[in-house]
Amino acid sequence: MTQSRSLQKTLGIGLTLGAILLWIMAISGAILVSQNKLNELFDSALAETAQRIMPLAVVEIMNRDETGLPQNIMSFETHDEPLTYLVRNRSGKILLQSHNAEPSIFNQVLLEGFNTSGTHRLYGAWAVQKTIHIEIAEPLSQRKAAITEMAITLLWPLILIIPLCFIGTWAFVHYSLRRILIYRNEIESRGSGDLSPVSVTGLPTEILTIAEPVNDLLDRLRRALESERSFTANSAHELRTPIATALAQIQRLEKELPEGDSKERAFKIEKTVRTLSNLSEKLMQLAKAEGGGLFSNEQHDLTSIIQLVTDDLRRSSNVKIIEYFPPESLGIKSKIDPDAFAILVRNLLDNAIKHGSQNQPVEIHFSRQDELRIVNAGNIVPAEHLAKLRQRFVRSKTTAHGSGLGLAIADAIVTGIGASMLLNSPATGRPDGFEVVITLSDS
Ligand SMILES: Nc1ncnc2c1ncn2[C@@H]1O[C@H](COP(=O)(O)OP(=O)(O)O)[C@@H](O)[C@H]1O
Ligand SMILES: [Mg+2]
Repeated sequence: MTQSRSLQKTLGIGLTLGAILLWIMAISGAILVSQNKLNELFDSALAETAQRIMPLAVVEIMNRDETGLPQNIMSFETHDEPLTYLVRNRSGKILLQSHNAEPSIFNQVLLEGFNTSGTHRLYGAWAVQKTIHIEIAEPLSQRKAAITEMAITLLWPLILIIPLCFIGTWAFVHYSLRRILIYRNEIESRGSGDLSPVSVTGLPTEILTIAEPVNDLLDRLRRALESERSFTANSAHELRTPIATALAQIQRLEKELPEGDSKERAFKIEKTVRTLSNLSEKLMQLAKAEGGGLFSNEQHDLTSIIQLVTDDLRRSSNVKIIEYFPPESLGIKSKIDPDAFAILVRNLLDNAIKHGSQNQPVEIHFSRQDELRIVNAGNIVPAEHLAKLRQRFVRSKTTAHGSGLGLAIADAIVTGIGASMLLNSPATGRPDGFEVVITLSDS
């Protein structure tokens, strides 16, 4: 699988590189045009200088007493001379030269107009009917320095522009993606049971084309799950009457039958039908636990629901149940559906009575608003079994009857109300036993 990349990072880097590339291309164009213009300007200055010097040089040469000797133009004081010139006669003899002119850099042939040597830009011109020639030289390094200086001036803002561009694109992309982040957070914060459509307002068109089909998919999934649950609940409900009728018939039959094999068989059938009855009851509870509606609109007193279930179980079992309800736990109210909460407590207490040791009491602690603990004595359940007990139809080593659905129902309710359930064996602070800790704080 290709590794997923952050869109923000990819766009940030891509756009910054693009902007830098365009910047460099624009600067290169600007430098090229400026270079041509600068050359033109330098050339015209060179020609202008030659034409200015020429009449002065001609007058100087004409007025000399001793012609034929090269003469240096008097220098005012030592100074750096970027432009140097030579004045020569037709045969190439130097008549006049600027004070630091180096004859070797000039053309040996007397040329007219502009030309370039390896180091200099030169301009040659004739005067006095082509008898006197002036050639003026300007070092190329001067032009190069001007262009380099200009390029540096144009390029250095890049140092500032690169981070600014990166931060700018990063922030802009983050801003543009904000709706997608809200969308993601909404999906992330959902409970597992929430299959309602996710809000798509303000999403960019590209994501909307994904988000809408996802909502359609959620809708189809919700309908499929609902129909599956209502089928389970309806089937279990429909089974109740025939099972109850069958039980009644079998019990009548047991009374009518004489002692012996047939009666024994009738007892066995009764046992099977009871198991079937319990199973259909559990399936109904599971359908409720996994369906919606685990919250009611009103607040209900959780402690009194626990007490109601406990009292009911005390009537049907010999195991002692001790309640530990500190004063601050009394009258705790919650919006959890009272039926669902009763199903949860009943299943856990049922287990504690059924699977725990019969001669020791079951403890029920509702110590703080957010913690319900049900503890019983008994053999330790191995850790590898403990991890799987929440799965449907999974049971550990036990002689008690059961369907393996009690903890699956409890788990479904706890998940549905956004609480958490911990199974411990041995129970906290004991050498043996089993403990279920439910933390309601999130619900
Ligand atoms: N309070 C408990 N003490 C000891 N073992 C327990 C307790 N509760 C659950 N168990 C173990 O977890 C298994 C699964 O429980 P459950 O899903 O309620 O199914 P059932 O009670 O029908 O066996 C039980 O078979 C039992 O081995
Ligand atoms: Mg059980």
